Amino acid sequence: MEANIIEININNLKHNIEVLKGYIGPYVKFMAVVKADAYGHGLKDIAVHLDNVDGFGVANVEEGIILRELNIRKPILIMGDIFPKDIKEIIHFDITPSISNLEIARLISKYGEKEDREIPIHIKVDTGMGRFGFLPEELLKVIDEILSLSNLKLEGIFSHFSTAGTDKEYVDLQFRRFLELISALERKKVFFSIRHIANSPAVLFHPYTTMDMVRVGIAMYGINPIGTDSPVGLLPVMSLKSKILSIREIPNNWSVGYDRTFISEKPMKIGIIPIGYGDGIPFQLSNNGYVLVKGKKASILGRICMDYMIIDLTNIPEAKLEDEVVIIGSQGEKSISANEIAKRCGEIPYSIITNLKGRIRRIYV
Ligand SMILES: Cc1ncc(COP(=O)(O)O)c(C=O)c1O
Repeated sequence: MEANIIEININNLKHNIEVLKGYIGPYVKFMAVVKADAYGHGLKDIAVHLDNVDGFGVANVEEGIILRELNIRKPILIMGDIFPKDIKEIIHFDITPSISNLEIARLISKYGEKEDREIPIHIKVDTGMGRFGFLPEELLKVIDEILSLSNLKLEGIFSHFSTAGTDKEYVDLQFRRFLELISALERKKVFFSIRHIANSPAVLFHPYTTMDMVRVGIAMYGINPIGTDSPVGLLPVMSLKSKILSIREIPNNWSVGYDRTFISEKPMKIGIIPIGYGDGIPFQLSNNGYVLVKGKKASILGRICMDYMIIDLTNIPEAKLEDEVVIIGSQGEKSISANEIAKRCGEIPYSIITNLKGRIRRIYV
């Protein structure tokens, strides 16, 4: 069996969904965001366990098709823009597109007419994220034309927060813009049954924004989106483990790894772990992080290599070949979170978990 394993705890995933549902109450739909291979957890294996959610959020048609091929019948929303070439498959696989411009709305309408199908759409609004979506005043100008297009079912309207984990004032500004737009549309007798804007940090820290549906990613995977490990009742889903491949003694004043960024100041015992930046371990952990061996912290020495990293076992004399090494997760009393690694690396936990490569086997427990 491989030395490197990503262990995914399905019970913790299910627990987190129940906790998050507690935050939103019984009347708000829960869309599970499973883009980017379910945030590195493995799309197929995660999706089949998500029987208690109301729908799925993906980034592109390919991810939607993977879900449909698993026989998942619940709504699937592509949360970003789509390419015109994808419309055919979107309709064939009954995936819901989001609409950020008139041209794509026209094309979808034309295709729906041809196929004699009514296509559900969610209109995306840019309330201050500055990525996809109609600007509010722009949507008010074109809404009549969108309404006049045949074979479109205006099911949802949504927006996305830029700062839900960092800046409440800006959250409130974006939310106010969204509510004002919805009111203006209602005055024109345009109603949407699913209005949504909240992501994980909004659900946890701005619960007044949950509306008709929330789109939750990172919190479902047990990671506190605001980058601290303050308790919000979530349990980590992913652990990353390796094994000790080699143990060696090195003398005083001996360089470790590429470019001599670590030089021993005493005789040391080092361990070599067969995992590196080629597996998605952040290079910034070079001389700047630790792993767990026998329940103790072992510092990372020198530069992370493509396929290896070198750790300090000097104070862990009981360590032996093939012992478990925890890179993310718990061992004994100690644990290392994706948030802690992100902070050390000047990254965000989202990038730490989604960067872990497919060559690390995922196991589901
Ligand atoms: C449009 C949209 N909604 C929801 C989410 C989920 O965000 P989070 O993982 O913070 O819950 C994302 C993720 O980036 C997104 O792009």
